[in-house]
Amino acid sequence: MSIKVTEQGRNFYLETLNTMYQLKADEYGVVKHIWYGAKTGCDMEYLFDFPDVGFSGNIYDAGNTKEYSLDTLPLEYSCGGIGDYRLSAAAVTHADGSNALDLRFEGYEIKKGKYSIYGMPAVYADEDEAETLEIRLKDTASDIYVILKYGVLESKDIITRSAVFVNEGQKPVKITKAFSLCLDIPQGDWEWVHFHGRHTMERTVERRPLIHGIQESSSDRGTSSHQQNPTVILCSKDCTETSGECIGAALVYSGSFQTKIELTQLNQIRLIAGINCDGFGWELKAKEEFYTPEVILSYSCVGFEKLSHNFHNVIKNNICRGKYKLAERPVLINNWEATYFDFDSERIESIAREASRLGVDMFVLDDGWFGKRDSDTSGLGDWFVNENKLKGGLNQLVEKVKSYGMSFGIWLEPEMVSEDSELYRKHPDWAIKIPNRKPMRGRYQLVLDITRKDVRDYLFEVISGVLKSADITYVKWDMNRSISDWYSAKLPAENMGEIRHRYVLGLYELLDRLTSAFPNVLFEGCSGGGGRFDAGILYYCPQIWCSDDTDAYERTKIQYGTSFFYPVSTIGSHVSTVPNHQTGRKTPIETRAITAMSGSFGYELDLNTLNNEEKAAVTEQIKRFKEYGPLIHNGKYYRLSNPLADNYAIWSFVSEDCSEALVHGMIFHTEPNMLRYSVKLRGLAPEKEYVIDGGEKVYTGRALMEGGILLPKSWGDFFPVEIHLKEYRAVK
Ligand code: DGJ
Repeated sequence: MSIKVTEQGRNFYLETLNTMYQLKADEYGVVKHIWYGAKTGCDMEYLFDFPDVGFSGNIYDAGNTKEYSLDTLPLEYSCGGIGDYRLSAAAVTHADGSNALDLRFEGYEIKKGKYSIYGMPAVYADEDEAETLEIRLKDTASDIYVILKYGVLESKDIITRSAVFVNEGQKPVKITKAFSLCLDIPQGDWEWVHFHGRHTMERTVERRPLIHGIQESSSDRGTSSHQQNPTVILCSKDCTETSGECIGAALVYSGSFQTKIELTQLNQIRLIAGINCDGFGWELKAKEEFYTPEVILSYSCVGFEKLSHNFHNVIKNNICRGKYKLAERPVLINNWEATYFDFDSERIESIAREASRLGVDMFVLDDGWFGKRDSDTSGLGDWFVNENKLKGGLNQLVEKVKSYGMSFGIWLEPEMVSEDSELYRKHPDWAIKIPNRKPMRGRYQLVLDITRKDVRDYLFEVISGVLKSADITYVKWDMNRSISDWYSAKLPAENMGEIRHRYVLGLYELLDRLTSAFPNVLFEGCSGGGGRFDAGILYYCPQIWCSDDTDAYERTKIQYGTSFFYPVSTIGSHVSTVPNHQTGRKTPIETRAITAMSGSFGYELDLNTLNNEEKAAVTEQIKRFKEYGPLIHNGKYYRLSNPLADNYAIWSFVSEDCSEALVHGMIFHTEPNMLRYSVKLRGLAPEKEYVIDGGEKVYTGRALMEGGILLPKSWGDFFPVEIHLKEYRAVK
């Protein structure tokens, strides 16, 4: 049993293999957050001794006890309007216009298995893998209930949280804030790590001390965004990859979100995460429920590496779904950087033919195959083949590609519409825009109002039609702008605050329908690269195109940041041409391949343009990826350097039984007369003996971890590193 209850059902311990989460309802029914950290086997409330703090008021029920203040106590789900002046997780406006919410403990329930969330992605688990705790809270002065849900995945060191708002009253209320997570950390000296960036430079790691007041990472773009990722880590000042405490939180949500951290007057920390409440307002009618998205939590007392392993494990096994969740992914060739919009059947066939000759498994036809789509100014929404480019239609091309021994994938951008399109001419009202205002255009395009069922039904039919028209086994689902001008003709004016969240719910419904109707199709998420790289999308698409930056050097930084939460199998990564189209940089083809192999591997260039030596290298790389693929995707991933600080990017994969390891990466710049770098490996068995492929020297795991492994002598810039080790006994 991972959930233990004491003190007549008021003191709750959620225990996982290495962690403990404790909450307790006190004599006033206030639910206090007691602990999230190491598994201590002890009620941790002994650490609480709060002073009377001036201007921190006291609840009425506490009488003259001035030490009891909602403004200083660690709380499980803090609400606004009742004297806790820190960040609050929830707020409602009642029928009388007041907006206080005073949630007190009403009861609890423990259930086998993991709860799910209606209409939204969430961690799923077998009945015996997880337990659910539901804490029922009620507002003292209304019939608003909030049910806090906790999923405990004991063996994975994972706790999930989400909240359900229920209106048991007679009148509607307006929810103006409904965060998924409120987490108080009453002690310690903590920093925060977040993942910021921009288009072609996503998920750059930034670690900062906390300042008093509020720090935030958020998106108001309608997507989880390139600029901030909906993941955050709080860590002790001394936290490293392998030591120190850290808590990670990943939102399972693909829309506008907020993660806020407050360092309070008493140096306590509060973290809240959930739907962005700016502009948010949800009418909760009598007897209705509102579900917040899920947040996944994990704690590690041995640094970031273990935290990442916990997230990789749960995302790979309990978020990703379907046929491809653990399957080896096809090595693909994508024509985007090879042709952009400028192609016809002949060009496509020649790219596919050569790719197949060199060993590639799948051809992916990117943007430009449909409607009047010769540039990005037109055609979106017209999901029928452009026969000027693809003579004979899609099916003929697909069959041709199949005759080369390859499968076929296709690009779609279902949520968008170009003004210059048949769809827009027929249904201008389907685009999100405010009457009497000129909408902002992003990449010349507008966004379809998928909060509307008729629009979603249309998209389901038209996309199903494309997928049935030929033997298509992969879809790249793109989304190429941030959303603005929020308005829907189908929503009453007073409920327009629902539109951002309804957009995300509409997206999830559409993805759910399509992925269920086409279970054999591998869906890849994309938003101008990694602009919607989040655990919500991964529930439908087990891989996401990581970034439109295909420069191998830059990619080491982007993939480094991405790796803190997301497993390698989810990271779409391709070898592209040089000079690179985003940076003009030239890197060796071997270096590009090694970087791209740390993901769902593919090529994105016209392989016909390579010389024979490079072509031979491609064949060899694909062979190696097929050999190492299971280790790369199923092994444990180790960040062995920090590419933002070091002169090299080195990472490794180690098999579960520690019998095999693959060290990958690159040395950025070579200097004359430089010593060879040595890098300490991790995750090996200290007592096991290892040999490097092609070598004779036998190393103990302890030597490789304590003394390190010598990187090759580099020559030139961006020098590739690949070292494959096997347990000595296994090869004797
Ligand atoms: C953005 C994607 O990230 C690219 O890979 C490509 O598919 C383009 N869109 C096509 O418009």
